[in-house]
Amino acid sequence: MAKKTGSVIRCVTLPAGTFYNGDCISGAARYIPDGSVDLIITDPPYGINGDTLHKHYNRNETFVVEGYVEIPQEEYGDFSLRWIHEAERILRPGGSIYIVSGYTNLFHILAALKTTGLKEVNHIIWKYPFGVFTRRKFVSSHYHILFYEKPGGRRTFNLESRYGLGEKNGDGGSLNNTDREDVWQINREYKPGVVKNKNELPPELLAKMIQYSSNEGDLVCDFFLGGFSTAKAAIGLNRQATGFECSKAIFDTRIKELAEMEPGSLVPLLREPAIQLRKNRRKAWTDTDIRYLIREFKKRRDLGETKKAIVAALGESLGRGRWAIEKALKKYDPDSEP
Ligand SMILES: C[S@@+](CC[C@H](N)C(=O)[O-])C[C@H]1O[C@@H](n2cnc3c(N)ncnc32)[C@H](O)[C@@H]1O
Repeated sequence: MAKKTGSVIRCVTLPAGTFYNGDCISGAARYIPDGSVDLIITDPPYGINGDTLHKHYNRNETFVVEGYVEIPQEEYGDFSLRWIHEAERILRPGGSIYIVSGYTNLFHILAALKTTGLKEVNHIIWKYPFGVFTRRKFVSSHYHILFYEKPGGRRTFNLESRYGLGEKNGDGGSLNNTDREDVWQINREYKPGVVKNKNELPPELLAKMIQYSSNEGDLVCDFFLGGFSTAKAAIGLNRQATGFECSKAIFDTRIKELAEMEPGSLVPLLREPAIQLRKNRRKAWTDTDIRYLIREFKKRRDLGETKKAIVAALGESLGRGRWAIEKALKKYDPDSEP
């Protein structure tokens, strides 16, 4: 149950979800029930003095929507504690949270996470190819993405949502593995002459988190909607969405755009992974299969084939994936058989 203690705030309900124009801490307390959200993706204010952000990032602010609300540096620690505890409460057991953070206040976010029951899954580095202009030091060109889970349930992780396990690049490397490395190189969108929010996250980055960590129909929440990019990506991928934005100017501009969005409109743009369906996937091993596994393994090994090649060949002939073959070889150790 939501605690009903926060103040009443303006909300707009669309077919794909309800959006709140107000503070995320009191808003979540009042409106979002315990354990009701499958995935949180959020990008809190940076606490680095919003008024000078444009100088820092060396860009023209003419097209930036007014009204971005910053958190004073001295309040950042307490603010992080409070919103992260609300985030933990509303996540379902097994739910995932991704927090995008710069370097300056990362320690506050990590310290707040330590006071929760949330568990780290990955610390991702988002690298983008152009960074803050400098002359006498290196160019800062990354953000941190803290990927945590709420224990107590099965976490969604759609292993082949973007690349099949068997897909290779030109050098024979696994595309799936490369996509799941914890350094993500994704360009920031450069949108000259288009109205934007400060530091809007690119749709490609958001889609990646949404595809791996949620399913169609799941509820995705963003505590700091800004340009509503999380909500747009979630709805475009047929998820439900919700979230908070305390600036009225930003909320009013963005909610109109969201209302015009077609749910599922991004689905046709997704890459179709090549997934090999293994005909015996998840089926119990028969005695015939086990005998075949042991016999073939020994025969191929005696012929000098590598274990990797044998596992791949056995996967093909037994209609099972690589992990299933490796697990079976551990369980029915060919060398312990007479
Ligand atoms: C870094 S921006 C989010 C950008 C967003 N991820 C995007 O892609 O456009 C942070 C947003 O949080 C809003 N904000 C600040 N304090 C807030 C609070 N207490 N509750 C809700 N929103 C808040 C700011 O106005 C700002 O729009």
